Amino acid sequence: MVYLPRKKFYITTPIYYVNDVPHIGHAYTTIAADVIARWHRLKGEDVFFLTGTDEHGEKIQQAAEKVGKQPKKFCDEIAKKFKDAWKALDISYDHFIRTTDESHVKAVEKALQILYKNGYIYKGKYQGLYCVGCEKYLTESELVGGKCPDHLKEPEVLSEDSYFFSLSKFHTILLNKIEKGEMAIKPEVRKNEIISFLKSNKLEDISISRSKVKWGIKLPWDENLTSYVWVDAFLNYVTGIGWPNKAFEKYWPVDLHLIGKDILRVHATIWPAELLAIGLKVPKQFFAHGYFTVNGQKMGKSLGNVVDPVELSKKYSVDAVRYFLIREFPFGEDGDFSEKALVNRINGELVADLGNLIYRVLTLAERYKGKIEGEPEIDKNLDIEAIDSYIENLELHNAIESVWKFVRYVNKYINEKQAWKLEGEELGNALYNLLEACKVISILVSSFLPETAEKINKQLGVKGCKLKDCKFGKFTGRIKKGAYLFKKVE
Ligand code: MSP
Repeated sequence: MVYLPRKKFYITTPIYYVNDVPHIGHAYTTIAADVIARWHRLKGEDVFFLTGTDEHGEKIQQAAEKVGKQPKKFCDEIAKKFKDAWKALDISYDHFIRTTDESHVKAVEKALQILYKNGYIYKGKYQGLYCVGCEKYLTESELVGGKCPDHLKEPEVLSEDSYFFSLSKFHTILLNKIEKGEMAIKPEVRKNEIISFLKSNKLEDISISRSKVKWGIKLPWDENLTSYVWVDAFLNYVTGIGWPNKAFEKYWPVDLHLIGKDILRVHATIWPAELLAIGLKVPKQFFAHGYFTVNGQKMGKSLGNVVDPVELSKKYSVDAVRYFLIREFPFGEDGDFSEKALVNRINGELVADLGNLIYRVLTLAERYKGKIEGEPEIDKNLDIEAIDSYIENLELHNAIESVWKFVRYVNKYINEKQAWKLEGEELGNALYNLLEACKVISILVSSFLPETAEKINKQLGVKGCKLKDCKFGKFTGRIKKGAYLFKKVE
């Protein structure tokens, strides 16, 4: 077989801001990462899957103030909501990191000291447009007619002492690593965007200290200042696997940072520069997926169209949501979310193809009392290597579509054979093929639809297996037909 397992596979999602409850966009990234993590476990690799929450900074401080809560208490509540959501969506993370975890805070302090000692941090003056009403610096593009849109006042030009990170020193080395593919960026269009950005702009040093934001990690050499939230947040990717403890080397460098396209540029510049400045290896690969709208509109609190993934999974089942998100949007491209499209996928594919297949095969098998054995006839239509290489290329939609091709093929086999009319040995042979096919399908869908795979295994009376078991052997299950896997949505 061509699919060689790696020794280890480390995958991350972004850590999500806790100023917002988990929505379908967060769920999209997290489910995709889960599918990939599960697939690599299926291949027998030592997988580490990290997700978590980004809890410091002005945005969070303000969100807590707005509801009259202490920031830490506020973070505890929202972080729990993320954990609950991931439980409901069957997310198999190995660790959930919170940037308020003591071990993370200590490690960030250490990282800041190393950056300072290595000469990548210097003191300078930060100048910006400060709105007293907002208590923050605004960018030119945030102003309307030169004024703060919320307070209708012109901001003051303010300057303060600040510490800077020498990001500019890393311009050439980063461009080089990206062009050579030493630090891969996918899809190709995103890579090209970053390259052309770096070719037409010089990376500038960034201010990494905040005097006005109290809710943050204090700079070890100046306790009046807190660290810029991104500097703190990026480090989760190493502190989450134990850095500065040596044990982190088991998984570093990361195999895949999965993120949305909105945060690719900061990830591809500030983060690897931070790593190099500390003396650590850069990530092996970034994949930036697309953004989706809801019924054609940008999703947002102000429009009141934020989709709750947990509610959705209660209404339609967790696997319906997982299937839809992976199948509907070509991974990497933008897309539009609608419940109508979700229902179409449920009825047209989950019910009509997979649910129907399992039900038909189990109905036939229950009725048959003879021996289930025969010659493999339909395994030739199974191309596991192709499915694996789709996942390796992060074409998740194509991977699941390939599994579906086989599901449809097996349904066709039942029709062409008119299996319901067969008897005796002929039926035994057909059933052997059908049951082995269902067993294999269960393994193949288990990364995408873990709950459904378990249900299939229960009905077939088999145990969950690894990818290497994805072949026709001797059928050893004990049939126990159960309910339909999916309900048709009217
Ligand atoms: N806290 C930072 C990330 C720090 S990582 C070191 C952050 N958090 S966030 O809560 O705003 O999450 C952004 C991520 O959520 C996106 O990169 C993407 O993964 C996901 N999505 C948010 N809205 C989305 C859509 N509408 N569509 C698809 N994904 C979306 O940025």
